[in-house]
Amino acid sequence: MRIDVSLAPGEIAANDVAQAVVVVIDVLRATSTIAVALNNGCEEIIAAESIEEAINIASGYTRSDYVLGGERRGLPIDGFDLGNSPSEYVEARVRGKKLILVTTNGTRAIKAYDNAFAIYAASFLNADAVFRTLHRAHRDRDIILVCSGQDSRFCMEDALCAGLLASRFGNELGATLTDSANAAATLFEVHRDSIQQALAASSHGAYLIGVGYGHDVEYCSHRSEIDVVPKVFDRRVIRRARLEPEE
Ligand code: MLT
Repeated sequence: MRIDVSLAPGEIAANDVAQAVVVVIDVLRATSTIAVALNNGCEEIIAAESIEEAINIASGYTRSDYVLGGERRGLPIDGFDLGNSPSEYVEARVRGKKLILVTTNGTRAIKAYDNAFAIYAASFLNADAVFRTLHRAHRDRDIILVCSGQDSRFCMEDALCAGLLASRFGNELGATLTDSANAAATLFEVHRDSIQQALAASSHGAYLIGVGYGHDVEYCSHRSEIDVVPKVFDRRVIRRARLEPEE
């Protein structure tokens, strides 16, 4: 097993992932929100790249069957039901419904690697569940941890989460780590006891705190409190992965 990390968007070409398992990470906040929504009974999440695409997808469903969620510059989109704060995705809003979700970096990264052998979504909230599933279901595959980044650039919070996963694969399973996976693992080791502070000090974390989402930055630093593994089906539909071996 070889673990690679795309530290910034586009670093690993989509053509190079066809035989690999891709794990998309957007700690602040898309993949954290996805884990929370599925954990609270959301049936499936349809990832859209633009507001127009989300509205177009929604037009194919009965109004009571879906919620429209997402953000632009971290803030709720006019006319949408929900923003991109995990705190909004409570059971009363999402149980039994589809979520059509559009976010700036996270949903775009999920769609960019839609030709991978399999695609999962990870955050600190469900990191242990994702680790266990990948170990059980794909132990003979290369795994590429894709940091969604911020506006096409490296971001600290995704690299830290990639580092947590890379260090577990390296230390517990003896996986081979590429240089970028090693770099992420080293970064994680430096901050392992201060993830919340590291998230708050990151550019997007500081931005979110400034626009009133400090509670999200704090919550998204919690490690492994959700036992749900989001997996992408049919290129853009995210559902809970079955937790038994898949290969
Ligand atoms: C994104 O996909 O860019 C983020 O999830 C933005 C956010 O914090 O809402």
